Amino acid sequence: MRFQGKVALITGAGSGFGEVSARRFVQEGGRVIIAEMNAAAGERVASELGAAACFIRTDVTVDDQFEAAVRAATSTFGRLDVLVNNAGVSHDLKPFEQISSAEFDRVFAVNVRAIMRGSAFALPALKAAGGGAVINICSVGGIRIRPNLAAYNVSKAAAIAMTKALALEMAPYKIRVCGINPTLAETGLTATFVGSEFDDAKKRAFESGVPLGRMATANDVANAVLFLASDDAGMTTGSCIDVDGGRGL
Ligand SMILES: NC(=O)c1ccc[n+]([C@@H]2O[C@H](COP(=O)([O-])OP(=O)(O)OC[C@H]3O[C@@H](n4cnc5c(N)ncnc54)[C@H](O)[C@@H]3O)[C@@H](O)[C@H]2O)c1
Repeated sequence: MRFQGKVALITGAGSGFGEVSARRFVQEGGRVIIAEMNAAAGERVASELGAAACFIRTDVTVDDQFEAAVRAATSTFGRLDVLVNNAGVSHDLKPFEQISSAEFDRVFAVNVRAIMRGSAFALPALKAAGGGAVINICSVGGIRIRPNLAAYNVSKAAAIAMTKALALEMAPYKIRVCGINPTLAETGLTATFVGSEFDDAKKRAFESGVPLGRMATANDVANAVLFLASDDAGMTTGSCIDVDGGRGL
């Protein structure tokens, strides 16, 4: 029960990595704010988790909404110990010259700007708790660039750099900031990364390029989230853990 008495705010927790991380926080004694843009998804997860969870409809690119989600942590559960910047979006697979300015700006607003703004909104509550952790879901795509995902991959490289920048500035308050670089996993975003025709043959071809021979799972990522958010990682900050089966090597 590593999170007894602790409160986490997880963005994009209505699906995929964020949903499984929220379930795991609650299993380990914590309480969670589900800060999710998709109301049906967020409400479903919160209602399944019961009194240990609270859904706040949040688009992380809208400052007022992100601030309100942070306020909900303190007003509902009395404190905030962990912020998981998990919400992320990509663009359709396409050559860089076909990615529009609007697509580029949306990807950066969700994947990069919201990490900085959300961390700023959470800072007073994390300080008041005597310290805490910010965990950013980045990507192996931020390290190992592949074609047709230029804006997404560069946004994740920026998220990795943001993790280090915030780690330095939040360290004086005993707030650790870490990142996670997953490889491909089956979530709501998979079709965006690989195209809709991701059949068994393509899955096997992808897995043959992963030294450990398989895709990641949401549980693999949640394991890293919980480790980095816990006191077990008390001397770790500014680090991004690859949860990629060696894909980035
Ligand atoms: N699935 C993968 O293969 C993979 C690999 C590496 C990194 N990632 C990253 O993992 C994170 C989680 O994605 P996932 O794979 O679980 O996908 P997902 O689509 O299953 O979950 C993402 C959730 O974020 C929510 N969301 C999107 N924009 C939002 C916004 N502006 N405000 C609030 N919520 C918003 C969505 O509604 C969704 O519920 C993302 O940052 C993604 O880039 C995913």
